[in-house]
This record gives sequence, C-alpha cells and structure tokens, in this order.
Amino acid sequence: GSVPDHTPKEEFGELVAALPRKQQSILELRLYQGFWLPEHWVPGTIVFQRRFAPRPDDVILASYPKCGTTWLKALAFAVMARDAHPPAHPDHPLRRLNPHDCIPFIDEIFAGGEDAKLDLLPSPRLMNTHLPFTLLPDPVTNNGGTCRVVYVCRDPKDMAVSLWHFLRRRHPDLPFADTFESVCDGTVPVGPVWDHVLSYWRASQANQDRVLFLKYEDLLRDPAGNVRWLAAFMGRPFLADEEAAVQDVVELCSFEKMKGLEVNKAGTSGAYKAMPRDAFFRKGVAGDWANHMSPEMAARLDGVVREKLQGTGLAF
Ligand code: A3P
Repeated sequence: GSVPDHTPKEEFGELVAALPRKQQSILELRLYQGFWLPEHWVPGTIVFQRRFAPRPDDVILASYPKCGTTWLKALAFAVMARDAHPPAHPDHPLRRLNPHDCIPFIDEIFAGGEDAKLDLLPSPRLMNTHLPFTLLPDPVTNNGGTCRVVYVCRDPKDMAVSLWHFLRRRHPDLPFADTFESVCDGTVPVGPVWDHVLSYWRASQANQDRVLFLKYEDLLRDPAGNVRWLAAFMGRPFLADEEAAVQDVVELCSFEKMKGLEVNKAGTSGAYKAMPRDAFFRKGVAGDWANHMSPEMAARLDGVVREKLQGTGLAF
C-alpha cells in the first residue's frame, strides 16, 4: 500500500479523545463500540476495521488476554507448518522462537501503521487479535465471513489471576483486589470479558465452519483431541498415519517444554516489547484462582458471569 502521511494515532486523535474514558489504577481505557480498549489500541483498531483485506485461507487466532493466546499460537503454528517443520525435529522454529515471534499480532501491527507487513505474508496467513468478534472488520464477520477464526477463552477467575500476575511484572505493588474489581465491573482491556466471550460464542453458534470456539480447560484436559479438531478446522486435518505427529505437536507446545526453553526465559518479543518473555509462562493450570480469591470473591465473579451468560448455552 501507499505510505500514510499520518500515524493512526495522529489521524484518529480527535475521535479517540471524544470516547468515554476510564482511568482505573494503571489502566487507561476508552469505550469503543461497547468494549474498553487500552487507549493506544483504538487508532490501530479503526485502521484494522477499515483496511484489513482478509484472504479466504487466513486463520485469525482470537482470544481474551491471558486465556491461552501463547499456547494457541504455538499449537496453530506447529499444526500448519508441520510439513516444512516436523514437530519432533530438534531444530523446530518453536524451540528457537517465542510463539509471539512466529505469528504476528494484528492489533499492534495496525497501531504501528505497519499493515504492509501483513500484506507481505505468504498464504495461508496465521495472525492473532485480542479484539472481540463484533469489532473485527466487516469482511471477516459479514455473510459468514471470508476467513476462519479460532477463539480461546478460559474461566474468568483464572483469567483474572493470570492478568494480575502479568500486570504485576510491571507494577509490583498492584493489589489483587484492584484487578479483581476491574474484571468484575468490565473495565479491563477488551472487557467486559463476558461480552467478549459471548461475541465469539454467538458467532461460532451461527457459523461453525468459520468460527471455532475453544476453552483453555478443554485444551488441558484433552490436548490431542483439541489439536485434531483445530487442525481439521484450519483445513489441515491429521491423516490416519499422522497419529505420532499429533502427539509431537502436543509435546512440543506443552507448558513444561515451552517454559523450559532458553528462548522463552530471556528477552522480549516483537509485539510485546514491554514484557519479558517468561511473563507468558507462569503456572499453566486450571483452578489457580483458589490461591488468590476468597470463596466470597469467587462466588461474586461467578455470579456476574453466570447472569451475563444466562440462556446462551455457554458456561464456565
Ligand atoms: P497462568 O498465568 O494462569 O499460568 P496468554 O498467552 O493469553 O497471555 O495467557 C497466558 C496464560 O497461559 C498463563 O496462565 C500461562 O502460564 C498460560 N500458558 C502459556 N503457555 C502455555 C502452554 N503452552 N500450555 C498451557 N498454558 C500455557
């Protein structure tokens, strides 16, 4: 494309300044189309909505932050690249690169005015976003959509705990109660979390061939089954004689393996320059919320989520 004369931030500064704002402790959020976006994401989101040209074989990996993005990126990459890079190979890219360096983060690319980077990627493209389904560009969501979308979500209680630990890497004094309150009232990045989850749940219900809905807890319980499902959805099903490859993908992307890699211990990654890579590999389990929340807090968040999801067929 042509070189824009303004950065997205300059171009949409006035529009952003007119949006409802919430400064909550360390978070600076703007309400955009029903969701609280980090202020610096809004201009890039608008450009993404206006300019993104999906290709039919694109796969967009979507997630609520701290719900398994890194894991999904690793799994999807290992599955799609398995001809060129057999998952058991000792020199597999995922043993040398952090998953965030293998798959571009759309939101950051557009925020930085670098969309040409996406145009240059060979097909099939794998990309990720934290935006809710309803904020994705029209060609992705309209009429059953042009491309495929895979979503991963997680028990909001564990998401809240994971988010707090993540934020604490840069704000060591942040109290858990502060993050918890933000999650409960929806004023978290791309919150409310229930609306985010519902946006993809409804899309997957309406069009199962286009939107795959996964849960972190299901991935933990049955990684091989979910990898087969993911591969089939992405148009690269595992054949009968590839059973070992399924196990190899699961193994390659397992929490212990990934956390133990040198590349995931030190340094930072392209789109997440502000965060050390090891911040993406903390504990990797379900139920850690019990170590941070009182039963009353858990019941309160569960209650909010249950009420919002009532009648949708979705539960955590
Ligand atoms: P915890 O903080 O509960 O350990 P995201 O990738 O969306 O930022 O989510 C991060 C969460 O996923 C963290 O959860 C992290 O430990 C966990 N995670 C990262 N890689 C994983 C893997 N390969 N398998 C399972 N969980 C993983």
